[in-house]
Amino acid sequence: MKIGIFDSGLGGLGVGLRMIDALPQYDYIYLGDTQRVPYGNRSQESIYRFTREAVDYLFSRNCLLVVLACNTASAEALRRIQQEYVPTHYPDRKVLGVLIPAAEVAAASGKRIGVIATAGAVGSGAWPREIHRIREDVEVFQQAAPLLVPLVENDGIKWAEPILAEYLAPLHARDIDTLVLGCTHYIFLKEQAQCLSPGVKVISPEELVPERLADYLRRHQEIASRLSTGRIREFMLTDMTDEYIGLAQRLTGRQIEFRHVVL
Ligand code: DGL
Repeated sequence: MKIGIFDSGLGGLGVGLRMIDALPQYDYIYLGDTQRVPYGNRSQESIYRFTREAVDYLFSRNCLLVVLACNTASAEALRRIQQEYVPTHYPDRKVLGVLIPAAEVAAASGKRIGVIATAGAVGSGAWPREIHRIREDVEVFQQAAPLLVPLVENDGIKWAEPILAEYLAPLHARDIDTLVLGCTHYIFLKEQAQCLSPGVKVISPEELVPERLADYLRRHQEIASRLSTGRIREFMLTDMTDEYIGLAQRLTGRQIEFRHVVL
């Protein structure tokens, strides 16, 4: 059985490829919902439904474990999927999110934590909730950054800096010591975020998610032992254009063979 990696679009490729590099022995299916990206400005109900459809697809393709690389899906849909949907429909499968690992690293890193994320993730309150669950004596400041995902998905990184600076300004005004890039797409803006945030520790999901997955599999041998190790990689998109394929190559520096899927 395989490991599924889900993101709303191409942004999760950065995290997904790092996971594959860290644990190359396993078989993977990456699914990017390019037809419906961005998720971040949609209602919780839509994000839940889209995420559930992605999970259904990945389970139908023999994934034992699905990682929601997408922070927005992790914030808006994960809990319901883990507590209600998976136990009833797929009692022997697992869905993991990425928000709690980043919250743990952030809580250990500073006392004034800034988070930039999609509007949906910010509105869910998941970041302050999870960080405060780990540590109460920290302050968490959030900023929704709705323009950044469309910029990344449309090859517009070169225009991002002034917009990113606008989004970061209210967080710097609160004197943050830690900045969480709370969206897979923002990892492609990490250098710009660090330049705009001197002296601030920037936490980026691709740096911590692979190690957390490895740790999970070490602790859950009953899962790890059922994973197939044929080094198969499949990359599926719900909408496929030449632009998407070119952009994926520019973002990741790799030649990836994508296939189209209808959910
Ligand atoms: N990639 C998603 C995340 O990590 C959100 C992008 C979107 O708005 O679809 O939050």
